[in-house]
Amino acid sequence: MGAFGGVGVDIARIVVLTGAGVSAESGLGTFRDKDGLWTKYDLAEVATPEGFAADPGKVHDFYNARRKNALEAAPNKAHAALARLEAAGALIVTQNVDDLHERAGARGVIHMHGELVRGLCASCGATWDAAQVMGVEDTCPACGVPACRPDIVWFGEIPYHMERIGDALAECELFVAVGTSGEVYPAAGFVEEARRVGAETLEINLEATGGRFDRRILGPASEVVPAWVDKVLGQ
Ligand code: OAD
Repeated sequence: MGAFGGVGVDIARIVVLTGAGVSAESGLGTFRDKDGLWTKYDLAEVATPEGFAADPGKVHDFYNARRKNALEAAPNKAHAALARLEAAGALIVTQNVDDLHERAGARGVIHMHGELVRGLCASCGATWDAAQVMGVEDTCPACGVPACRPDIVWFGEIPYHMERIGDALAECELFVAVGTSGEVYPAAGFVEEARRVGAETLEINLEATGGRFDRRILGPASEVVPAWVDKVLGQ
């Protein structure tokens, strides 16, 4: 086990899972903190296939607002530091649907819950670069059917790229969860998958969650993530 959560590990065998906390200091609200999105919106209405079937206009409005917020936000120092770690070989898996990791320079981020910048046809499954504002009248660029939805994984749907993520976890030496409450599976189970293969586990968060991690670094992501990345990269 590294002397300091990752010092001395093979960087290519670090898997970092990020959540809403990494984008909080960019001004994007988290879901479950005080004033979080799920205190203002009914998750069942805006983040489930049933909610979309019942009122697609409401769901588009919700994600149009998220897309606008993300567009107006800028990546923070945590995104920038994680992009440096990725460039050195680490894998970033994110539950976030914003593109702040990419705008900080990361290139191979796995978006397990989808992306605001992509549209998905509920009829034929095509995906495309989403317009800033999507609506119920939009037609799919591939099949022409008016069944456009944001390319977001909703509750009750299977997250993307699970096989690739499982393979990376099976090989990992260090698993790091940054800014995620650990309330939503399957991401919440990654720490246990990593433990099973003997990986070291590290949580970086404002406060400790209930997950079983070997180590914790507590503090705002924009401060503690760059400091941790510097140590891992030996800078
Ligand atoms: P949550 O809102 O559940 O958790 C955010 C976490 O970030 C909490 O543990 C906070 O303590 C922490 N946090 C807040 N500000 C922070 C900061 N400045 N620095 C570090 N940590 C901070 O968000 P997620 O865990 O990402 O899914 O939520 C997981 C999924 O639930 C989301 O992807 C979304 C949501 O419902 C879907 O919509 C499908």
